[in-house]
Amino acid sequence: MEVPNNKNAIESNRQAWNDSARHHQDSPDWQALLSDVAQADFSCLDDTLRGLLEEVGVDGKDVIQLGCNNGRESLSLFALGARSVVGVDQSSAFLDQARELNSRSAHNAEFIESDIHHLPALLHNRFDVALITIGVLNWMPDIGEFFRHVASTLKPGGKLVIYETHPFLEMVDPDAEDPYRLASSYFRAEPFVQEEPIVYVGKVEQQAAKSYWFVHNLGAIFSGAIGAGLNIAHFKEYAHSNREELYDRYLNREAQLPMCFTLVATKV
Ligand SMILES: C[S@@+](CC[C@H](N)C(=O)[O-])C[C@H]1O[C@@H](n2cnc3c(N)ncnc32)[C@H](O)[C@@H]1O
Repeated sequence: MEVPNNKNAIESNRQAWNDSARHHQDSPDWQALLSDVAQADFSCLDDTLRGLLEEVGVDGKDVIQLGCNNGRESLSLFALGARSVVGVDQSSAFLDQARELNSRSAHNAEFIESDIHHLPALLHNRFDVALITIGVLNWMPDIGEFFRHVASTLKPGGKLVIYETHPFLEMVDPDAEDPYRLASSYFRAEPFVQEEPIVYVGKVEQQAAKSYWFVHNLGAIFSGAIGAGLNIAHFKEYAHSNREELYDRYLNREAQLPMCFTLVATKV
């Protein structure tokens, strides 16, 4: 398999997300979101993430979400009392959706188009909390470099909060004939490549830019965070899923896989 250099993989991922944006807008979820977001206490956060953010404390804080997609989670941070919210994503098509949601919201987030690896200086050393959620880490070719850019947004003492899918899930293939067979190495170095649009339910048979999904095991994630000057203060694994519905087949098993994790780290 030919893997492009990191810069080209990031650019191809940007195009792939832009190619997929209209499919997300076609869903009934989008229509529901358009009306729900108008409520002042709107939140799409699940209990795990909400509970963690309450513990960390976002009330009165300046918060940035990196890889914010359509901004629904960024806008949910106001219900927890955030003073200001900035959402960053490199997909202009998803940021159009975020700005549409923002225009209907009772609150006002700022949405900035940028590759996380090239954040504008105005985002440096500015935030109390940086948030990374479901399905962001794996688009990053170099996890150490990614953490250095994320850390650059935090004030000293600021906290990074991650709620992500668990790397153990990269070892199984829910579409395989035997979805319980270990199908891929935990230490896989080459990315998974997808040529169809990125959708959360089913498949869309249509050509799109290639997207590159990189596997980062827990050791790489911890080392990347530590190397970026972040002190890990919390790490927890869960048996519930925050992935696509397809992964629900791995729930409630006797030999249960970890399905997702939370991590909090403080900038020294
Ligand atoms: C799976 S989505 C996040 C979804 C979000 N957790 C939610 O539930 O709404 C991942 C996002 O990361 C963004 N992304 C991927 N690589 C990026 C990069 N290098 N810089 C900025 N954003 C990036 C994509 O454009 C996409 O919107």
